[in-house]
Amino acid sequence: MTTLVALWTEVRKRLEAAGVDSPVVDARLLIEAGAGVGRIEIIADPRRELTEAQVAAVDALTRRREAREPISHILGKKAFWTFEVAVTRDVLTPRPETELLVEAAVRLLPKDSPARVLDLGVGSGAIILAVLAERPFTTGLGVDVSEAALAVARANAERLGLSDRLELRQGDWTEGLEGQFHLVLSNPPYIPADEIAGLQPEVARHEPRLALDGGADGLAAYRRILSQLDRVLAPGGTFAFEVGRGQAESVRTLAEAAGYATDAPLDDIAGVARVVTGHRAA
Ligand SMILES: C[S@@+](CC[C@H](N)C(=O)[O-])C[C@H]1O[C@@H](n2cnc3c(N)ncnc32)[C@H](O)[C@@H]1O
Repeated sequence: MTTLVALWTEVRKRLEAAGVDSPVVDARLLIEAGAGVGRIEIIADPRRELTEAQVAAVDALTRRREAREPISHILGKKAFWTFEVAVTRDVLTPRPETELLVEAAVRLLPKDSPARVLDLGVGSGAIILAVLAERPFTTGLGVDVSEAALAVARANAERLGLSDRLELRQGDWTEGLEGQFHLVLSNPPYIPADEIAGLQPEVARHEPRLALDGGADGLAAYRRILSQLDRVLAPGGTFAFEVGRGQAESVRTLAEAAGYATDAPLDDIAGVARVVTGHRAA
């Protein structure tokens, strides 16, 4: 018979051996999901014995994690902002640093009056859903080139009760969009194409290429978006983009060349310049 604590130790060791970088937490999450037990039970009753079926279910999930499938894909969800979003292999798993873009957006939006926000490359919907949750008078449009990603965003909007304020549309950045937005947000793909293969297997093998590939220098999507931004950004409006490590000054330069005034970039908690904001003249 296997106890909760013995299984936790065994799974942790298997994940360590597979090179997983958070083996303790992931082992606990796999046991919770596979054995159907809560975190409190694992801590409070560690010597509880598990059935063979529970052990087999945890083993099946552990094999997937050993093969470096992301924990978010195995669990089907990821915590972001104040909620959980459903994630599948069709969307980027939202990252903690992206919450900085949400913070910036929330600060830029009025508390008590209507505003329209556009999220380019909406993916799971994490960014725009967090913004809509914080700003009840705001309405949003999320665009993605991937229909499969939009289906995930739609399901998340419905589950969070925000679908009445969020329109989702398939498209190539701003192509074909009409109307003007007070705020345009984007966390576009920004990894230089030839660096993708060298990323962790969770990312390189399991996240959608469309969500990662920023072209030869990682900046292709910013160039495209900035070249079309006047079509959708209202006079006096603001944009806020997430950028990759070391890209902030290049993105500011591209934005200024396209006619926008930019601000000092915002740093994430690791000290990486992570969000570039700028404005269209009124
Ligand atoms: C880095 S992911 C960001 C996903 C989500 N907004 C987040 O922050 O977690 C970039 C998203 O841009 C989308 N995308 C890539 N090329 C696009 C294009 N030409 N037009 C619209 N969306 C695009 C991808 O499908 C992906 O969902």
